[in-house]
Amino acid sequence: MKNLLAASNLDRAEVLGILDLAEEMHEVQGREIKKLPTLRGRTIINMFFEDSTRTRTSFEIAGKWMSADTINVSAKGSSVSKGESMKDTMLTLDAMGVDCFVIRHAGSGTVQQAADWVRASVVNAGDGSHEHPTQALLDAYAMRQHFRSLDGGPVDGFEGRTVAITGDLLHSRVVRSNVSLLNTLGAEVLLCAPPTLMPTGADQWGVEVVQDFDEALQRADVAMMLRVQRERMSSGFFPSAREYIAGWGLTANRLRRLREGVAIMHPGPMNRGLEISSEAADAASSLILDQVSAGVAVRMSVLYHVLGGSNEGSK
Ligand code: CP
Repeated sequence: MKNLLAASNLDRAEVLGILDLAEEMHEVQGREIKKLPTLRGRTIINMFFEDSTRTRTSFEIAGKWMSADTINVSAKGSSVSKGESMKDTMLTLDAMGVDCFVIRHAGSGTVQQAADWVRASVVNAGDGSHEHPTQALLDAYAMRQHFRSLDGGPVDGFEGRTVAITGDLLHSRVVRSNVSLLNTLGAEVLLCAPPTLMPTGADQWGVEVVQDFDEALQRADVAMMLRVQRERMSSGFFPSAREYIAGWGLTANRLRRLREGVAIMHPGPMNRGLEISSEAADAASSLILDQVSAGVAVRMSVLYHVLGGSNEGSK
């Protein structure tokens, strides 16, 4: 695999291959000395045109633990702030002999565009409202661990499992990557959002659109809550915060009504008290920190697949 640009480019065997290798990588996290020699001599640039805590840090850790040289470049400290185009920036860095770019950008489709410009491998760390494939992979990793602990046995695909994804789906790249990946793994996906925050045509994504959040929670094995992205709402936040919490917030009351074994997920960063209450975020059934932890192992596996394996496949 040369690039990882979209979850929708991955077939089931590729997803399971990445998750299986991530399990081996997860063991490294528990060791006192974490370095593997796997990517020694390779250079990775984390190119972030948009802010990030989890994704940028975990890609940096992943690269370092595999002995790659990792360099962080952000738009603010680079010549982008002087008006240099993204294309010139990418070509300039590519000419230095970089092996892989991990790119986050506010524009949907820009990461695919960058992959067409450069010789190096490219991994999408989130482009606009388009895709965030490594988030969906780490979410699948955390779900698989959860289902295993419930079943007490091996779990590959997600047939017979229901995942309810609720929140600001309109602006979310996480929902698009998760729907693709969960469909590939055989899960039933329910989407729930205020009508103003439901993408047009979402009912054609191989999911069921459910109007009533309480019904979605009743049917779910996993309740994945997504952030209200106020920074992407130019004309204000509608419905109001009070209406949002009443209709679509995972409140302490709704937490108490969840069936036993239902896992709570959120990719972060969270708006505590809006889409998710602190009681739900910090509940014993919350996988939120498991998701963060899985992020390092999954990104190690992804970097291995694009840099350490063959250069055939997913473009
Ligand atoms: N989930 C996620 O992408 O978080 P960051 O924006 O902190 O990277």
